[in-house]
Amino acid sequence: MTPHIPDRPAPARLRWSAATSSLQIEGSRHADGGGRSIWDDEIAKPGRIRDGSTADPACDSYRRVEDDIAAVAGLGVDRYRFSIPWARVQPDGRGRGNAAALDHYSRVVDGLLAAGVTPFPTLYHWELPSVVEEEGGWLNRDTAERFAEYAAVVADRLGDRVSDWYTINEPAMTTLQGYAVGTLAPGRQLLFGALPTAHHQLLAHAGAAEALRARGSARVGLVNNHTWVLPLRDTEEDRRAALLYDLMHNRLFSEPLLSGTTPDLETLGLPALPVVGDDLARIAGSVDFYGVNFYNPTTVTAAAPGAAIPFEIVPTPGLPVTGFGPEWPIMPSALRDLLIDLRARHPRMPPVIIGENGASFPEPDTAGPVDDADRIAYLAAHIDAVGEAIEAGVPVEEYTVWSLLDNWEWTDGYTQRFGLVHVDFATGARTPKASYGWYRDLIARARSSRRTSAASA
Ligand code: FCB
Repeated sequence: MTPHIPDRPAPARLRWSAATSSLQIEGSRHADGGGRSIWDDEIAKPGRIRDGSTADPACDSYRRVEDDIAAVAGLGVDRYRFSIPWARVQPDGRGRGNAAALDHYSRVVDGLLAAGVTPFPTLYHWELPSVVEEEGGWLNRDTAERFAEYAAVVADRLGDRVSDWYTINEPAMTTLQGYAVGTLAPGRQLLFGALPTAHHQLLAHAGAAEALRARGSARVGLVNNHTWVLPLRDTEEDRRAALLYDLMHNRLFSEPLLSGTTPDLETLGLPALPVVGDDLARIAGSVDFYGVNFYNPTTVTAAAPGAAIPFEIVPTPGLPVTGFGPEWPIMPSALRDLLIDLRARHPRMPPVIIGENGASFPEPDTAGPVDDADRIAYLAAHIDAVGEAIEAGVPVEEYTVWSLLDNWEWTDGYTQRFGLVHVDFATGARTPKASYGWYRDLIARARSSRRTSAASA
């Protein structure tokens, strides 16, 4: 991509954040009595992780929490998005919770608060306890109950200092990649048989929201991964394929939360969702903010007749790409357009939080200065797109960079570097990249322009 930094200042009204997730940074996977998760099972499958790595030591963050907090504080962000792994807290997927693990996250919360950063945890970033998966995982309605109980256990320990929570990260990825095609844990290949996992995750979120609110939490939200779907060709077949993909990736997850409805799957010949009783009413009232993760648009074409899935994802013609290659094309206007589209479809849209946005680019493994101009250009253009969406009336209130640190990218292992901070995985050494200083300065400028406009108002 040709680095181009937009001239417009960043939106003054935004709060700023950076994100990580537990498995991707922590290492020490079973320290303090931590239990087994579906990712331990995935890592154990031969050939499953692209570079043969495990998520240990990753960034060694379980032991180097203070280094991470210092990096977060140095950026000047308002909040830090990190995740708490269910299998560490409830190794058996139920019960009162593992005190040592809860103490650890309590120290993380205290450390952030002492550094002037608001902790903003995610309760589920894909680490389902293996025992819960053995009982059916997200295909099993009971998992929603289990999750609400887990949320209550965490809130009982941290809720005196944490007021805002993300419940579930990107349920679409769990449904599509985890259960439908198997590119993420638990590696199931159920195709449309995976659909119940969409409903059960939303139900789990609703139950967790009820538990958190009952314990005095101020705001609860779920974070969906959204994409902007483009038909490859302007034909009836490709438009239909794009519509179906849009439904599976986006609308299956946004509509129940934002409008209390579900897309009509049966008219498309797909199985109905296992909705029972007042499920939809519970889901509809369950978000105080709506999280949107965005990385790239998706181009779709109709699959050959008789294929098991009627659409196929193909490279988007004519766009620059990130470290993932044609799978992750760069199109910042897609973020603006999808935010405006979401707002138009859902007039009662709550405040929006961009929970993740960022890119990997090929960068050196060993420590040293990284002049990541491509990342700066990517982030700047997407922040600018958020500004355009705000001008068009979308109530975005926070923007989050993925990621604070280079980390372990699921089945891609250590092959993709997304960090503002370079991590040498052999030594754990952290070195801020050029993008770290750029983001820090952008936040400082945006904050001072907010102060100036507040003072002159
Ligand atoms: C998102 C995940 C996050 C990270 C980024 C690159 O889908 O939530 O953990 O892997 O992609």
